[in-house]
Amino acid sequence: MVDLFSQQRHTELCQEINRHNRLYYSQDQPEISDAEYDSLFRELLGIEAEYPELITPESPSQRVGTPASKKFAPVEHIIPMLSLKNAKNAEEFHDFDTSIRKNFLARNADLEYVCEMKLDGVAIELTYEDGKLFRASTRGDGFVGEDITENIKTIDDIPHTLTAPYPELIDVRGEIYINLADFQALNRAQEDAGDKTFANPRNAAAGSLRQIDAKVTAQRPLRIFCYGVGRMQGLETASQFETLQLLARLGLRVNLRETTCSSGAEEVINIFCQFQDRRDTLPFEIDGVVVKVNEITLQEELGMVSRSPRWAIALKFPPRQEQTIVEGISLQVGRTGAITPVAHLKPVTVSGVTVSRASLHNWDEIERLDLRIGDHVVVERAGDVIPDVVKVLTEKRTGNERLIPLPTECPECSTPVHKNPDEVVPRCSNPHCPAQTIERMKHFVSRDAMDIEGLGEKQLVQLINCSKITDVADLYLLSKEDMCAMERMGDALAEKLILAIAASKNQPLSKLLFGLGVRHVGRNTAKILARRFASLDELAKCTTDQLIAIHEIGDKVARSIVDYFANPGKILLLEKLHQAGVQPQEEAVVQQGGPLTGKTFVITGSLSKWSRKEAEELVEKAGGRAAGSVSKKTDYVLAGENAGSKLAKAEKLGVEVVDEETFAQLIEFKPNGLG
Ligand code: IVH
Repeated sequence: MVDLFSQQRHTELCQEINRHNRLYYSQDQPEISDAEYDSLFRELLGIEAEYPELITPESPSQRVGTPASKKFAPVEHIIPMLSLKNAKNAEEFHDFDTSIRKNFLARNADLEYVCEMKLDGVAIELTYEDGKLFRASTRGDGFVGEDITENIKTIDDIPHTLTAPYPELIDVRGEIYINLADFQALNRAQEDAGDKTFANPRNAAAGSLRQIDAKVTAQRPLRIFCYGVGRMQGLETASQFETLQLLARLGLRVNLRETTCSSGAEEVINIFCQFQDRRDTLPFEIDGVVVKVNEITLQEELGMVSRSPRWAIALKFPPRQEQTIVEGISLQVGRTGAITPVAHLKPVTVSGVTVSRASLHNWDEIERLDLRIGDHVVVERAGDVIPDVVKVLTEKRTGNERLIPLPTECPECSTPVHKNPDEVVPRCSNPHCPAQTIERMKHFVSRDAMDIEGLGEKQLVQLINCSKITDVADLYLLSKEDMCAMERMGDALAEKLILAIAASKNQPLSKLLFGLGVRHVGRNTAKILARRFASLDELAKCTTDQLIAIHEIGDKVARSIVDYFANPGKILLLEKLHQAGVQPQEEAVVQQGGPLTGKTFVITGSLSKWSRKEAEELVEKAGGRAAGSVSKKTDYVLAGENAGSKLAKAEKLGVEVVDEETFAQLIEFKPNGLG
C-alpha cells in the first residue's frame, strides 16, 4: 500500500524530472548537473520499485527525454530509442554483471561485453532506404522525435548514400557532437557576433541541430559517431561488434578503434579506468563508458525494462574537478530581491569549458565551505552547466584572504537589506530596485510564463533605459516605433515582437499567474490555482483559509498569495494589465462549492463507465480530491470490478465504499453535462 508521503514525493519527482527533461532536451538549457539529475531519477526508480502501482505511462521512468517540439514534424521511432541505466561505481556494475550471469546465462554461453566511449552529445536516428538517406530525427521522448533531415544533410560526416552492399532499410543510431576545440572557436564567434554563447559542447550540438534554418546548422562544426541500429532489413549481424563493423563498412563514422571486447567484469572496470585516464587527451568530451552485451541473441533474450535495455549499462565518470582561485565576489539581485553571492574565479578550463564564475548560493554555503576571497578552491563541472565550488584548500592560505561579509545594502539600489531569520538569503526590500525590475520582467516574458519570444534581457534593458516601460503591463502599450528605437531592430522584427506580445494576452491563466512572480507560486502551484479559479479576480478574493483548504496549498503559499493581492502596487499592476487587454484563458475545471468539496476519493478496481483517470477528473471537477491510497482521511472509495487491497483497507478502516451508480449520484453526473 502506497503511503501518502511516497505518493506525493513520486508526483513531485515526476514533475521535477519532466521539467529538467524539457530544459535539457528541448531548451538546451539545463539547470542542474547530470549527477543531480541522476540522483532525482534514482529516487524515482526507488519509489517505483517499492510501489509499482505508481508507475504510469507518463512517469519519466517510462519515457526518454521529452516530447518532440512542434517546431519540427514528428517522426515515430518504430523501434523506440531507449536510454541507458547508469552504474555509479564498480559495485553497481558488478550487480549488473551478476544479474545477467545469474538470470540469463543458463545456457552457459560465453558472456562477452563491448565497451564503447559514451559520447556527450545528442542522440539521433538516420533512416536509409535502399542506401539513400531518407530521414533523420532526434530522439524526442524515445517514441516520437523531430524531423531534422534537412539539418542533418548539412553535416559532412554523414553520407547521403551508403556503400553497397547495403540493407534495404536501416535505422542507424548515433551521437552528434562537437569537438572541444571547435566548441571554443564557435563560442568565440558567437561572442564576437554579440550572440549567446553555449554552456558546453553538448548544448551547442543540440542547439545547432534544432535550427529552423538549415544554413545555420551547416555553419556549425557538427560530427557524428554511429553506435547502433534500430530496424534493419535485408542484412543481419550476430553481435554488437559486427554491427559496428557493418556501419563502418557502409561508410558511416564509427568510433571503432576505441571499442574493446572483454569477458570479465574486472576487465570492464579496467577499461573504464583506462578510458578515464585518456579522457583529457581526447578531442571530444566523453562522460563515461557504455558496456553492451555483445551477442545479439542474448541481447534479445535479456530484453528491456521500462525505458532501458537490460543488456547495456553506462558507467559514468565522476564529475571533473579543477583548482583555481577566488578573485572576488559579486552580488546578484533576483526578482524577489534575494541577494546571491557569485564567486569570480581565476579562469580555469574544466572539461573544455572556461569557468570564471560560480554561484555560491548563500551565506550558509559560504560558511559551510569556510570560503574567503583569495582562497584556492576546487571547482566541479559535472559535464554540464553551472560549476560548483566544492572545497576550499585551506592549506594553501597565506593569511591575506578576506572574509565575505553579509551585505548591508543592495548592490544595485543601496536600499538597506534585511534577512529573515528563517531564510538563508538577505533581500533588498525596494520594489523599484532596477535589478529586481529587470529580473521580474525577464521572468514575466520567459517561456514558462507569458512566453514572449524575441524579448530578452537586452531588449528589456533598452526599453527600461529609454523609459518606454516601467512594469510588465507597459509591454502591452508599446508601439512599433518604440520597438524600432532599439538597437538592431528592423521593421520586420519590431512587427514580430508586437505580435508576440499581443498573442501573449490570452495565455492560459496559469502562465500569467506564474509570470506575475508571486512568491512561492511556482509553475505547479500556478497550475493548481488555475484549475481551481476561473480568473485572477476570483483568486484575489480568496482568504488564507480558503486557499489552505486546497489540498496542495500550504500555509506559506496561501499567505504569500493573500499578501500579493492585498498589495496596492500589485492591485494597480493587475488593473493596468486588465486595461491593456490581458485576458488569460480560463483553465478552471473544478466546481467551486461543487458536491464533493472537501471530500477525498480513492478509486480502485476497473470501472465500466469511465477510465480511472476520467473518474479522477470527475472527482476534481466536483470539487473533491482524488488520492492514490486509502487512509483514515479518505471519505469514499469508489470500487470497480476486481478491487483488491484498497477495498480491503477501506473496509477495515470503515471508509464508505460506493459503486459507480452511487458515485454518479454523488458527483451529480449528467451524461454530456458535468463530464
Ligand atoms: S547506446 C539502448 N552507445 O547515451 C542503447 N549510447 O543514456 C542506447 N550515448 O541516448 C544507446 N554514446 O545519446 C549508446 N556508445 C554509445 C553512446 C550512447 C553516447 C548516449 C546516447 C544515448 C544515451 C543513453
